[in-house]
Amino acid sequence: MDTYQISGGGRIDGTVCAAGAKNALLPLLAASVLGKGESVLHNCPALSDVYAMLGILEAAGCRTEFSDGNIRICPDGMKETFLHGDLVKQMRSSVFLLGPVLALKGSVCMGFPGGCAIGRRPVDIHLSALRKMGADIEKREETIICRCERLRGAVIRLPFPSVGATENIMMAAALADGITVIRNAAREPEIEELQNFMNKMGAEICGAGTSVIIIAGKKRLSGAEWNVMSDRIEAGTLILAAAVTGGRIFVKNVRAEYMEAFLSCMEACGMRIDVRQDGIEAAAPHRLKAAGKVPTGPYPGFPTDLQSQLLAVMTTADGVSMIEENIFEDRFKVLKPLRLMGADISLQGRSACVNGVPGLHGARVCAEDLRGGAALVLAALAAEGRTVIENVTLIDRGYEKLEKTLSKLGAEMIRIKEGRDEQGKRTRQLPDIY
Ligand code: EPZ
Repeated sequence: MDTYQISGGGRIDGTVCAAGAKNALLPLLAASVLGKGESVLHNCPALSDVYAMLGILEAAGCRTEFSDGNIRICPDGMKETFLHGDLVKQMRSSVFLLGPVLALKGSVCMGFPGGCAIGRRPVDIHLSALRKMGADIEKREETIICRCERLRGAVIRLPFPSVGATENIMMAAALADGITVIRNAAREPEIEELQNFMNKMGAEICGAGTSVIIIAGKKRLSGAEWNVMSDRIEAGTLILAAAVTGGRIFVKNVRAEYMEAFLSCMEACGMRIDVRQDGIEAAAPHRLKAAGKVPTGPYPGFPTDLQSQLLAVMTTADGVSMIEENIFEDRFKVLKPLRLMGADISLQGRSACVNGVPGLHGARVCAEDLRGGAALVLAALAAEGRTVIENVTLIDRGYEKLEKTLSKLGAEMIRIKEGRDEQGKRTRQLPDIY
């Protein structure tokens, strides 16, 4: 199990370019299945979830190629509609394949998706929407089997503005017979990105970014070329790295209008935020003020994917912060390791009450989910002494070489491969029996 070793106390200072957005790229890869011929995607981050999605598509018969940030994918050879068991279980976004594969092939069979252990993460909203579009759905132990000769358009009211369900329905409806209307749709920027990519493929979708999305079904789409939008969650994480170390950062190529709730929270904590044509500059005071009450919510609310990172940063802010998690029911696993580092946090229902302390100290801790792992990195940057973070492959799911990005910005941070020492030499393996 790879680990990070971080010596805290340095400032995060400098300029960085936000990578392509994981939560935009994954649905785009699923949507590419709908196009006849090759799609080409640029600005793709080399993340383990991206490789897993490509693995599922390849196992189903698609041709894929990933080099220098560019992905070429052609679904014309796709035969298999039984999607690769282990890879599907590796991440939540495999569920995005239900809609497009069913729409294209008339049947799809897959295990229940995996993903970060941040809650039960059911797929009932996805399945009831597909049923409404005419799909016959069977659930056996760990498998979902969907069949439908041709999906038909429907009016679908979501009980919750689910990001994945909104995206799945958009993709299923793109080849359905007739018009589909999604009400109470999620409004995340990544959904608008999906709409624009699919329209470039020949789909007819409008309304993404609002809570009503309308899709007119077509016979078939064609492959398209696309430049993936920047990752607002990675950008927010890097701004928080500067925040917790009293540093200053300029994050290029990220659109501030997609981060309003987060940026106003940062200003309330005393950061100076300057929005420029080509990015966001953020400069931290010596010590942040506490954020007060911060509820996460569906976009444009404060993003749940920055909740753990904000929590970590508030542990050394001046005052009390109440961070309320309203999207996932189990997204406070990071409290335990943060307490090990000296944080003063108590759980009150759906809220974490953070009483800012003057400083944290290093410890050996373990990442339990993607964003919780990133939060531990932020805490370690500010902690006195050395912190070892285990299980960092979880962080690779959403950040490409985070250790390199932060080291370039002044962090004293190395990645130690499993079974090797700090210099990269193989550690002496004691024989099992000696
Ligand atoms: C997407 O997950 C993102 N993942 C998540 O990012 C993000 O946290 C989430 O949206 C919310 O913004 C990707 O885009 C790959 P949801 P998704 O459906 O689609 C419940 C990260 O760290 N729900 O909006 O799974 C669900 O349990 C990840 O990058 C149902 O009950 O999120 C949750 O409580 C984590 N039934 C809430 O809705 C369903 O059928 C929001 O889930 C679907 C969802």
